[in-house]
Amino acid sequence: MIKSKKSIHGLPVYQPGKPLEEVRRELGLERIIKLASNENPFGSSKAVWKAIEQGKDSLQLYPEGSAPDLREKVAEHLEVDPRRLIFGNGSDEIVQMIASTYLEPDTEAVMADLTFPRYETVTKIEGAIPIQVPLKEGTHDLEGMLAVITEKTRVVWICNPNNPTGTIVGREELESFLDQVPDHVLTVLDEAYAEYVTDSSYPDSLSLLDYNPNIVVLRTFSKIYGLAALRVGFGVAHPDVVTELNRVRDPFNLNRLAQLAASAAVEDQTFVFYCRNQNESGRKQITGRLDQLGLFHYPSHGNFILFDTGFPANDVFQFLLHRGVITRSGEGLGFPTFLRVTIGSKDENEAFLKELESFLEEHKC
Ligand SMILES: Cc1ncc(COP(=O)(O)O)c(C=O)c1O
Repeated sequence: MIKSKKSIHGLPVYQPGKPLEEVRRELGLERIIKLASNENPFGSSKAVWKAIEQGKDSLQLYPEGSAPDLREKVAEHLEVDPRRLIFGNGSDEIVQMIASTYLEPDTEAVMADLTFPRYETVTKIEGAIPIQVPLKEGTHDLEGMLAVITEKTRVVWICNPNNPTGTIVGREELESFLDQVPDHVLTVLDEAYAEYVTDSSYPDSLSLLDYNPNIVVLRTFSKIYGLAALRVGFGVAHPDVVTELNRVRDPFNLNRLAQLAASAAVEDQTFVFYCRNQNESGRKQITGRLDQLGLFHYPSHGNFILFDTGFPANDVFQFLLHRGVITRSGEGLGFPTFLRVTIGSKDENEAFLKELESFLEEHKC
C-alpha cells in the first residue's frame, strides 16, 4: 500500500454524535430525540426554505466563489467591512484553512487540552506541534496559554464558549491576554455559539479587530441559524489575513444553495432572537433539575450543558440511547463520567430529564 504522509499516522477519525437515522434503524424506536451534536431544535428560518426553492433553477451553475450577496448581508448585519470576511464549507473548513496557511513542521499551535478536537487534528495534519494547556475549572487558562507561547508559536486557538464545557472567557481577561500575545502569533477566537451567549462579560470580539490585525473570529450558520446540513461558516479578520486564507481556499467551497440559504437566514434575526430566548429557558430548565439532583455542571453559555452523572458516562449514554434520547458521552471528550447534552425544545428537555431520573433511580445505592 502507498504510504500516507507521516504527520497523519495515528490521527483518529472524527467520531460524530450518533445520527438519528442510525439509531432509528438499530433500535427500531419510534420517537428519537437527538441532543448530541448541538443542533438547533427549532429547525431554521422559514425564509430559508423559499430561498432554497429559488435556487433550484441554477443547480447546473457553479456558485460564485466569493459569495458576494452573502458577504454583503453578513457585513451589514455585523457592521464590518465586507473585505474582512472569508466564508467556508462550515467553520470547520476555516479552521483547516488557518492551519494550512500558518502552520508547518517545526511550528507550534497552542490550545486548551479539552476543547474542540479539530484544532489538534488540523495542527497535526500540517506536521506542526499542538501545545495543550489544561483547562482551569473548565475554562481556558489564558495565563497558562501565554506562558507556553514561544518563537515557534504561530496560532493560538480559543474556543469561546468552549466546546464541550460551555464556559466563556470574559472581555477583560481576553483583552489583557491579547495585549501580551506577540506579533508573530495569530489568535483564533472560535465563536460558534456566540449568538447564544447572554452573559454581559462576553467579549465583543469584532470591535477588537479594529486595532488588532492578528485576530480571526469564527462564526457559523450551523448552530443558532439551524443550517448545519448546508455547511456555512465564516471568519472575520484583517483584510491581509483574509487574502492569505483565500490562497488556500477551494475555489467553489460554498455551494450555491448554502449561499442562498445563509443570505436569507441572516436577514431573519427574529428567528435568532426566538432561538436564543428558548435556549435560555431550556438552559434554566435543565440546570435547575441537575441542581435539584445534586449533579455538578459547568456554567453553560452555549446551547449545550456538560454535567457529571457520577457514573461511567458510556453506561448512562447507552441507557438513554435505548430510551430514544441521544446525548454525547463524555468518555471521548476527556470527561469519563460526564454527559454533554444539547439544550432542546421544552418537551425534548423534559423527556431527557425524565430518562436521566429513571437511570439515577435504577442505580441508587
Ligand atoms: C466550537 C466549534 N467550532 C466549530 C464547529 C464547526 O462548525 P461548522 O458546522 O460551522 O463546521 C463546531 C461544531 O460543532 C464547534 O463546536
